[in-house]
Amino acid sequence: MLNPEVFILAIESSCDDTAAAVLCNDKVLSNVVANQLIHTQYGGVVPELASRAHQQNIVPVIDAALKKANIQKEQLSAIAFTQGPGLMGSLLVGSSFAKSTALALGIPLIAVNHMHAHILAHFIDEEGYDKPEFPFLALTISGGHTQIVKVNNFFDMQIIGETTDDAVGEAFDKSAKILGLPYPGGPLVDKYAQLGNPKAFPFTKPKVPRLDFSFSGLKTAILYFIQKEKQKNPNFIDENLNDICASIQHTIIQILMDKLKLAVQETGIKQIAIGGGVSANSGIRNTLKKAEEKYGWKTFVPKFEYTTDNAAMIGIVGYQKFLSQNFENASVVSKARIQF
Ligand code: KG4
Ligand code: ZN
Repeated sequence: MLNPEVFILAIESSCDDTAAAVLCNDKVLSNVVANQLIHTQYGGVVPELASRAHQQNIVPVIDAALKKANIQKEQLSAIAFTQGPGLMGSLLVGSSFAKSTALALGIPLIAVNHMHAHILAHFIDEEGYDKPEFPFLALTISGGHTQIVKVNNFFDMQIIGETTDDAVGEAFDKSAKILGLPYPGGPLVDKYAQLGNPKAFPFTKPKVPRLDFSFSGLKTAILYFIQKEKQKNPNFIDENLNDICASIQHTIIQILMDKLKLAVQETGIKQIAIGGGVSANSGIRNTLKKAEEKYGWKTFVPKFEYTTDNAAMIGIVGYQKFLSQNFENASVVSKARIQF
């Protein structure tokens, strides 16, 4: 028998993007994101402002997602929302809206772990996109997370490595800030790096045991290096921006690749799926492509709109939970930190 059509409205509001999506089974009908530009002037996300902007954005964003999908709310089968991890004031806006709408429509409510969603985004049905097979390794890299996860099936995942301090996106953004670039600086470092020499300025890689990461030492090394060079030549950054960015990016990629190689060696798993905003980085994408030939890996990089924070990824987890009837009642609580 064919599966009946399941329509999920998904809401994501864990940090500074207000997002809503509508899925029909594992296909995305609409995926709407409102970015909050207000944070740029502060050089980072301001939690109170994020929460207020979510309150302003959530109704128009959900409305746009339903209209784009051409779905009436009465047709919805369930509502999925991000339970955590994230900023509490931001999470509460999404969860309150999801709870009240599910109650009003008399349909199930589904709580989703944001980190599971980054990983399971690979199971969104897209033409021409191969899905990984279980078990696979997921490298989740964003402004808030850096993890290597062994994914055994949809709901059995194990973190085998993670950052002990800054996330890799923070390493990009904080390095960019030292160079005087605006927030978020990751995409700009990527842009200038493409024009520079990655071996121009060698930065020492941190020594962290096993599969864990550390990026705070690299940030400090870059800061001291720039301060020293600027004393000799006040125009050092302007004159060497491309080479500095290429060298920083090269070091970060080496750190990630060293740990991935170790993870493959320890687990014997050669399928690598990446997710999170930093997976947009051109250097990381190229290096992973080359690793397919070099090490016999099979790598999976989702469409850009499914790698940064979005609600379609919440919807695909919602769909899997719907199939296993894994529902919540209105007493479910948001969690800034959440057990994997
Ligand atoms: O997943 P995301 O949109 O939000 C969360 O942090 O959860 O990731 C945002 C992060 C920022 O740190 C941003 O600088 C980084 O992803 N980023 C990049 C690139 N595009 C986005 N970092 C390096 N290269 C890029 N092309
Ligand atoms: Zn995220």
